[in-house]
Amino acid sequence: MKNQEHRPKIIVTGGAGFIGSHTVVELWNVGYEPIIVDNFSNSQPWIFDRIKRLTSKGLQCFHIDCCDEEKMEQLFLKLGQIIGIIHFAALKSVNESIEQPEMYYKNNLNSLQTIINLKEKFNIPDLVFSSSATVYGAAEQLPVTEDCNLKPATSPYGETKQLGEKMIREQLETGAIILRYFNPVGAHPSGLIGELPIGVPQNLIPYLTQTAIGQRDSLKVFGTDYNTQDGTCIRDYIHVLDLAKAHIAALTRLLSNRKTDVYNIGTGEGHSVLEVINTFEKVSGIDLRVKYTNRRAGDIESIYADCSKASLTLKWDLKYTLGDALKHAWQWEKGLHETKAEAA
Ligand code: UFG
Repeated sequence: MKNQEHRPKIIVTGGAGFIGSHTVVELWNVGYEPIIVDNFSNSQPWIFDRIKRLTSKGLQCFHIDCCDEEKMEQLFLKLGQIIGIIHFAALKSVNESIEQPEMYYKNNLNSLQTIINLKEKFNIPDLVFSSSATVYGAAEQLPVTEDCNLKPATSPYGETKQLGEKMIREQLETGAIILRYFNPVGAHPSGLIGELPIGVPQNLIPYLTQTAIGQRDSLKVFGTDYNTQDGTCIRDYIHVLDLAKAHIAALTRLLSNRKTDVYNIGTGEGHSVLEVINTFEKVSGIDLRVKYTNRRAGDIESIYADCSKASLTLKWDLKYTLGDALKHAWQWEKGLHETKAEAA
């Protein structure tokens, strides 16, 4: 294990969030010094204590909003040589973005512009940017490849991802990798870090685990009349640690090839909502209370990734199955429940 002094420094914006926290742990494990910058708008300070337990007591975390260019610049000056930035910090709720579009455009685009400006100003070689499968909309072909046409965004959130990609391509011909995430799920196998949804979860897995623990009455399956094998929607669910490792593979790729590029990061396999429910019931031994309801507005029928570009070029591959991801998500939910019970 390297001493803190000899580790190359990587800034991780949004490093206290769901994907960010897992990436910080993986960066540490392979010998980097991840430095977290987070405004804690979608995380809790105790998550940082957990991250430190998985890495080092000396890990640094700065409570700064990435849109604040002046504060960010002061931080970069103070930190000295930084070799890369992974930019996770962004608002990510589709519904909220429809209700408050201006907040999404301002936050997600201004923070990215700040990061691009600082990358240029401080000559920081590498940037990894979080994009999303949402840019494909209802994809023109399945599995979807990186060169498929992008569809007009159906939410301001989705539009900020498309515009973000465009900003990077226009301003950074070299030194950036855009990762298009499919559906990140699961939690750290230690049970120490995982997803912390604010309020009622919109995504399937946190809603499912909250139903299993008894916090929600039942899990609603949104639509059973899709043109799929069992009538429910198909998605590509990827374990958050496999996703975290893709960021490290991207940093490694930039060492040998500086061209700005884009990669799908999923598993290459689609699973229906009913398959997810069945797999969860199998790994947890719990019978979920399920209600079948109407389709959710805006949902697309089916999407899953062709990940051969990432697998061949980034030399990145998967370690975990959907069953592992659901087992870890369940372990995390149970741990959260125990923490809340102790605090009460
Ligand atoms: N679903 C349910 N019940 C729920 C929640 C979800 O049946 O309570 C279904 C949805 O209808 C969908 C599937 O489970 O078929 C997955 O839904 P999620 O909300 O978990 O994920 P989405 O694919 O809708 O959204 C994800 C990301 C978004 C991103 C979008 C498109 O969370 O950030 O993919 O790429 F914009």
